[in-house]
Amino acid sequence: MKNKFFLTTPIYYINDIPHIGHTCTTVATDVVARLHRLKGDDVFFLTGTDEHGQKVAESAIKAGFSDVKAYCDDIAPRFKKAWKDLDISFDYFIRTTEPKHEKIVEELLQKIYDKGDIYKDKYEGKYCVGCEKFLTESDLVDGHCNLHPPESTVDQSEENWFFKLSKYVDKLIELIENNQTNYIFPEGKKSEVLAKLKAGVRDVSFSRANVEWGIPIPWDKSQTIYVWVDALINYYSATQFLEGKGDFWPADLHILGKEILWFHTVIWQAMLLSVGIEIPKKTFIHSFYTIDGQKMSKSLGNVISPGQLMKLFGVDGTRFLVATSFPRDNDGDVSMARFKEKYNADLANNLGNLVSRVTKMGQGLKIETSQIDYDNQVASLIGELKFDDATNLIFDKWINTVNTKLSQEEPWKKEESDKGRQKLLVWSGQQIKIAAYHLLPFMPKTSQAVLDLFEKEIKVPEKGLFGRVS
Ligand code: MSP
Repeated sequence: MKNKFFLTTPIYYINDIPHIGHTCTTVATDVVARLHRLKGDDVFFLTGTDEHGQKVAESAIKAGFSDVKAYCDDIAPRFKKAWKDLDISFDYFIRTTEPKHEKIVEELLQKIYDKGDIYKDKYEGKYCVGCEKFLTESDLVDGHCNLHPPESTVDQSEENWFFKLSKYVDKLIELIENNQTNYIFPEGKKSEVLAKLKAGVRDVSFSRANVEWGIPIPWDKSQTIYVWVDALINYYSATQFLEGKGDFWPADLHILGKEILWFHTVIWQAMLLSVGIEIPKKTFIHSFYTIDGQKMSKSLGNVISPGQLMKLFGVDGTRFLVATSFPRDNDGDVSMARFKEKYNADLANNLGNLVSRVTKMGQGLKIETSQIDYDNQVASLIGELKFDDATNLIFDKWINTVNTKLSQEEPWKKEESDKGRQKLLVWSGQQIKIAAYHLLPFMPKTSQAVLDLFEKEIKVPEKGLFGRVS
């Protein structure tokens, strides 16, 4: 029987259209999903949009919509299209305004309430509308959230329904330390969560009294469910309302950015512990992109969109650049200039030129078809989301080796009928083929096109794989 593998991206707020930050998480998840499919696993890859809450409601008004749902219906397809354009192989695109999802959210919250884990209390403090988050002292810099403009932080005082998060702290610590479930990686993020848990945790508000755009609290219709509670449940709800997906729970891997670590590794897991549902196995937390040394923001006007990248570098070029600059452990700076440099060096000059030279010289030569097994070392680097290391290894093992051998043996100086030259070109074709197979998760269409050029006999491509970008 096939091994099941369920992985997710965060569901993105639709107050905005997709940018390179959303793209990096989505491409990363897609690379992992595609690797698992190549290994023969039965994969379920879930992504989608987070559509309730104050921030989305305010964005709808700003965009001139009086009906928030109509606004969501306008923006959500743009995310879906962006991911389709980028060849993201998601199996389902969930929207939190889907009634089937809403129903499961209500049921789950009711269960937590029935368990005695929800009570009424007063919330007095700061709230960041940008993060949709009740802020604690440690979130504040100069009195406001440091991730969003100061006006995004508002004072709030309201009666809310609170979740007994503190009740689950010991259990969470035990699970995280055991590395069995709720396994957090990379290591630094795990230590960060453990330290915060050990420092003491307060209960959290699970409702909003003055936000209408949300799912009503089942036992108190005067309040709506806090948008994060609704959003986190998407991972579970999709497996419940989609036919044949029930067995995919618990999730094997959640991939997300560092700013939403706490929600995913503590609050989400505690909610599931409360109702006795198995908790996700692994959560990977990555860092952030900065652009030309600065935080990416609309007001600075430095936001890069996936469309912009695709125009210059094509779909696979974009996927390759985004994956190889993935900010895994630390924030990573990207710039159009560096993207161009990397694209020209690795794809246009190196891989592209090599394929063009070998196919021209070797056209018509027979190639044996043999089964290629995915290299374990490359696979484990991808599993750890070390994409730059993984692609460097692929280039080193198969592409650079061919380049070196060709420059040593100079087949272009030999007669076409020379047996040694033919042997070398067939060998080169086979090596390129192995490289292309390993690059499938990163550049699915181009890699397949390369595999086809070396299928049975060497063929010359109709046009170059990667045009140089200036
Ligand atoms: N809606 C919530 C998530 C709910 S999941 C149950 C949310 N949405 S978001 O639209 O703000 O997306 C946040 C995610 O986008 C980050 O966690 C990260 O995956 C990605 N990124 C957004 N900006 C980013 C960068 N500058 N760099 C890298 N990734 C970033 O939070």
